[in-house]
Amino acid sequence: MKQSIFITALLLSAVVSYAQQPFSFVFMSDVHYTEKFDAPKAFRKVVDTINAIKPDFVLVGGDIVYDALRVSEQEVTATTNAYLAIASKIKAPLHYAIGNHEVFKLYDRQADTTNAIFGKRFYEKYFGKRYYSFNHKGWHFMVLDNIFITHDRKYKGKIDSIQMEWIKEDLQTIDAKTPVAIVAHVPFITTLSQWYGGGTNANDDKVAAEDTHKVLACFKSHNLKLILQGHLHYFEALNVMDKTLVITAPSVSGKWWRGKQHNVEEGFIRLNINGDKVTYDYIDYGWEAKKSKQVD
Ligand SMILES: [Fe+2]
Repeated sequence: MKQSIFITALLLSAVVSYAQQPFSFVFMSDVHYTEKFDAPKAFRKVVDTINAIKPDFVLVGGDIVYDALRVSEQEVTATTNAYLAIASKIKAPLHYAIGNHEVFKLYDRQADTTNAIFGKRFYEKYFGKRYYSFNHKGWHFMVLDNIFITHDRKYKGKIDSIQMEWIKEDLQTIDAKTPVAIVAHVPFITTLSQWYGGGTNANDDKVAAEDTHKVLACFKSHNLKLILQGHLHYFEALNVMDKTLVITAPSVSGKWWRGKQHNVEEGFIRLNINGDKVTYDYIDYGWEAKKSKQVD
């Protein structure tokens, strides 16, 4: 009896210490991988930098390929396979989120919509599920798809109704104290439009999600610690009510490999987790776009 109590106590302490074990992970967004602009060379630098800092895993915030919206199947397949060949050298596991540029042929009115990779099927074939969750060392990560396709074949930032139900169901698998991180491509909250246009300037639904308040309401009884987003090729970190850190990652590709965007170096974020405390580092992986080599 004494022995079984001892073993149970030992197991419990192992579970507690595992849950509290500090860890780090990388959030990189807007790689916009292409064979042009020396991007393969730059992306290899990203891979080497990530491997050197040894994160537990890497979250990829969408806009992985340069663009699937308009290009041919042959081109997008070649680009994606080239991206995956380099990304496979990353030693840590990769978790992907979809970006608006992963919706194959959305803007091509002549496109065959029955094609096996039309629309978001392209993303699902190469990168996996559009939304899912996983647990890591006591944290719960929810990767979301907030690329909402409208009837007129455009996109806006919004979570579809089926996924909203999934969010509620998924949250039932964790308790109220579990630290939660959510990831989606289009920002839930951003300062971008106000920074450049004044405090009363509103975001449109391509810059920020229209349903942020509805998504956040799902988390009102949970410990939402971190919101990770991309899309804007802008960098901001907002501490909301000293509870939730909202980070828009700088882009790996800067201004689509044509130099810096918003005067932020091409880079990514490392998140450092200790209990439910979060700190972050911005990591410039050392790329300088060569203007003389830029061609479109
Ligand atoms: Fe992007």
